[in-house]
Amino acid sequence: MKTKKVINTAVIGLGRAGWQIHIPQITAHENFKFTAAVDPLESRRKEAREQFGVNTYADCRSLFESEKPDLVVIVSPTHFHKEQAVMAFEHGVDVLCDKPMAVSLMEAREMAAAMRRHKRRMMLYQPHRAYVETVALRHLLAKNLIGRVFLIKRSWCRYRVRVDWQAFSRYGGGELNNSGAHFVDQLLYLAASPVTNMHCLRRKIISKGDAEDFARLILETANGMVLDVEVNFVAAIPSRPMEVYGERGTLILDEETPAWRARYYDEGAAENFKLQNSLAAENRSYMDDQRFSWREATFPLEDYKPVNFYRKCYDYFAGGEEPFIPVEESLEVMRILEECKKKSALS
Ligand SMILES: NC(=O)c1ccc[n+]([C@@H]2O[C@H](COP(=O)([O-])OP(=O)(O)OC[C@H]3O[C@@H](n4cnc5c(N)ncnc54)[C@H](O)[C@@H]3O)[C@@H](O)[C@H]2O)c1
Repeated sequence: MKTKKVINTAVIGLGRAGWQIHIPQITAHENFKFTAAVDPLESRRKEAREQFGVNTYADCRSLFESEKPDLVVIVSPTHFHKEQAVMAFEHGVDVLCDKPMAVSLMEAREMAAAMRRHKRRMMLYQPHRAYVETVALRHLLAKNLIGRVFLIKRSWCRYRVRVDWQAFSRYGGGELNNSGAHFVDQLLYLAASPVTNMHCLRRKIISKGDAEDFARLILETANGMVLDVEVNFVAAIPSRPMEVYGERGTLILDEETPAWRARYYDEGAAENFKLQNSLAAENRSYMDDQRFSWREATFPLEDYKPVNFYRKCYDYFAGGEEPFIPVEESLEVMRILEECKKKSALS
């Protein structure tokens, strides 16, 4: 049997995402080899050498001067992404970059241009597309369970006083970029239709920095959907994480079960409603006597399988397959985030 290629992988940034999200996935995947790490903090480089026996560097230039990994995973603070990705491409190295792609659309476009110029590959790490709730929801929507969908609400609520670099706009922080990037990507993936209009509000409430800790984003799509994203880091009691509204029913994500709960009626099962041709509502009725054959159903998430993101990475970076997330779609996320920021003065 032909042995599969191993992807020698360097991780740039040994913080929360580098250490807790990416290294465990890289080391768990038999076709990825964690070979090198970059971080300006010696204490973190030492940890990486001791735990994983990898070569470590204080900066990217030293990494590329000493070795040529197949792939770098960029998980440094956001304002470094562009410079580090372009440097990787110039050294013939592919890039898996964590979200958000960069601090601005212009920088994101420069990254994509450098990728094309050097004939390299790049994918953004937008894992919510791969999560089991997204896989299950796509399946339920494809079954046309609730009819034509007109509204998807996604809410990400926490109560946190932001005190780290993510509290500052100059580093690409703020919850629109930080959390919003996840959910704009997830909802665009679900809607599968171009955005035609957008509305946005941002507020800095309790963050210690200058960037927003609350943002509300409403996107309209060409196929008639409203995508409503709320990122709220000042929520002591969180609202429902996800709700999907169709003409014949509603789906609610129940994170405790965890499952999608549905209330819907079958196609064609609605009574024939006759439009009233009068300025006096018949029988003084508020139409709360209308009857539908409601069905209730629960779809446990354990019946579905999440997409293995790193397997998708392998198929793209080593197998030559189409990317799970095309760069154009990540550029569109950046365009939307940037437009939204322009439309919403921060207060
Ligand atoms: N996909 C996700 O769910 C997810 C979760 C968290 C963070 N992120 C993203 O990952 C990136 C890092 O965020 P984090 O929360 O891990 O930050 P963090 O503050 O926890 O870690 C940042 C790490 O990068 C190091 N660093 C600083 N400057 C560097 C440089 N020039 N080159 C290399 N390393 C450098 C720091 O020393 C630190 O170890 C951000 O872009 C963030 O948006 C994504």
